[in-house]
Amino acid sequence: MKEQIESIAIRGKESLLKLTTMSELSSWEIEFLGRKSELNTLLKGLRDLSPEEKKVVGPLGNAAKQLFTTLFEEKKQALLETSTDWQALAVDITAPGVPVHAGHLHPVTRLEHEIEDIFSSMGFVIADGPEVESEHYNFDALNFPKDHPSRDMQDTFWIKQDKKSKERYLPRTHTSGVQVRYLETHKPPFRVIVPGRVFRNEATDASHEHTFHQFECLMVDVPGKVTVATFKYIAEEFFGRFFGEKVSIRLRPSFFPFTEPSFEFDISCILCGGTGCPTCKQSGWLEIGGAGMVNQRVFESALYKRGAYQGFAWGFGMTRLVMMKYKITDIRLLMSGDLRFIRQF
Ligand code: FA5
Repeated sequence: MKEQIESIAIRGKESLLKLTTMSELSSWEIEFLGRKSELNTLLKGLRDLSPEEKKVVGPLGNAAKQLFTTLFEEKKQALLETSTDWQALAVDITAPGVPVHAGHLHPVTRLEHEIEDIFSSMGFVIADGPEVESEHYNFDALNFPKDHPSRDMQDTFWIKQDKKSKERYLPRTHTSGVQVRYLETHKPPFRVIVPGRVFRNEATDASHEHTFHQFECLMVDVPGKVTVATFKYIAEEFFGRFFGEKVSIRLRPSFFPFTEPSFEFDISCILCGGTGCPTCKQSGWLEIGGAGMVNQRVFESALYKRGAYQGFAWGFGMTRLVMMKYKITDIRLLMSGDLRFIRQF
């Protein structure tokens, strides 16, 4: 039996060296490693041997098997690199494909583009501003009095102040800082929108995040041309197009240092149809943004003469609109980075 095993090992090695294709390798595998191979059949006879014989022949048989397995794998690798014998590679070209996850735009980015398209079609241009903003543009130039509680309306993360710098910096709390930047560099009349990420140091819940997206809208012309009625028209037109259905808008008197008069505006909650749900805190309305006529102090910050121009400014929570559009009940999911959530869009 010992001689037989040695003879099989020599034959197996020699024929493996000679073969050049995958189909030959498959046949070799059946012949030398298969269930009904000569070696296997021989090893089945081990049980009839005496314990002494088993001790000699058993390890020999296993070594031959091990050798064949190693040589087979090596040959397979070598052939895989050179062979064009695809059928023998056992590629089933009729098998259904395996889905490949291509990346896609985040739902907030997707809707930001949609919103930009709607405003662009109404003659608005798109502007940008820095995410790390100076205290001047985020607060001072917008008429937030120094050390006045109105500055606390927006919970601010302050950036540690450089000892050499006179200016304090912060991750912007709203996109309104771009209003003065834009007024300083462009001459009215103009209509501009500013989408962007903003940051607030606040406790999170189903409708509040510390990092979210806003959308600023600024329309300026000579006095009398742009009024609250213009704002209302633009808002209704925008929401109608964005949701593809009529949406109720509710204006409430409010206060912002940079607008006069100011109002808060809500839209009817699309998630519950206005009947009340956790997202709208059972009120049927969702607070979407603030708006008002640009305070003349803001024009003055940008070195315009008081009364020379008039306009409206409007800022809304874009993340909240995304929630409405996709019927997302918890804002925190959007920035969670959870791919199981993101891949649904
Ligand atoms: C402002 O940020 C003003 N800059 C808006 C403005 C612009 C008023 C121009 C007048 C003229 P407010 O803090 O209310 O206002 O935020 C605006 C909107 O951002 C809110 O209505 C809400 O939709 C959204 N928002 C505010 N805080 C959060 C938050 N933590 N998470 C998600 N969305 C928020």
